[in-house]
Amino acid sequence: MIRILFVCLGNICRSPMAEAVLADMIKSERLDGQIETDSAGIGNWHTGEPPHYETRAILQKNDIAYTGLTARQIRQRDWERFDYIIGMDEQNINDLKAMHQISDKSPMVAKLMDFVNDPEEENIPDPYYTGNFAYTYQLVSTGCANLLAYIKDKHHL
Ligand code: 4NP
Repeated sequence: MIRILFVCLGNICRSPMAEAVLADMIKSERLDGQIETDSAGIGNWHTGEPPHYETRAILQKNDIAYTGLTARQIRQRDWERFDYIIGMDEQNINDLKAMHQISDKSPMVAKLMDFVNDPEEENIPDPYYTGNFAYTYQLVSTGCANLLAYIKDKHHL
């Protein structure tokens, strides 16, 4: 099983959105026996909460399931479990690197925007602050589609 963990600050807006979007793509390509998604937050403020209501609304509008998604904080053992740890912005990457020394054996750590060719944005904008969930959804969808293509190619799926 290939395991992908999306990480953002609060685990209620961007990373659960990415988790749900990628899970939906994996399911439509019938790769759910081979690739698994999860998400976590750098912070613990929202532990146990469902995604932000506007994240739920944009997912619902796009026919993407989000039942069962519950915020949690990243933990040390995630570094053993996942093959890919994908952050939403530069600060997430810095925080991730501060909690774990990256080595050859570490999961691949990257930003979701590394998979989006967009000269305007280096980070997935945080809609908790921008209020623009539709724009974030657009970048997250493109990023997830390209990340999935990258993983399929790399693992010959
Ligand atoms: P997220 O957005 O990192 O995309 O889930 C945030 C949600 C909540 C907070 C910060 C960012 N917060 O500070 O509570």
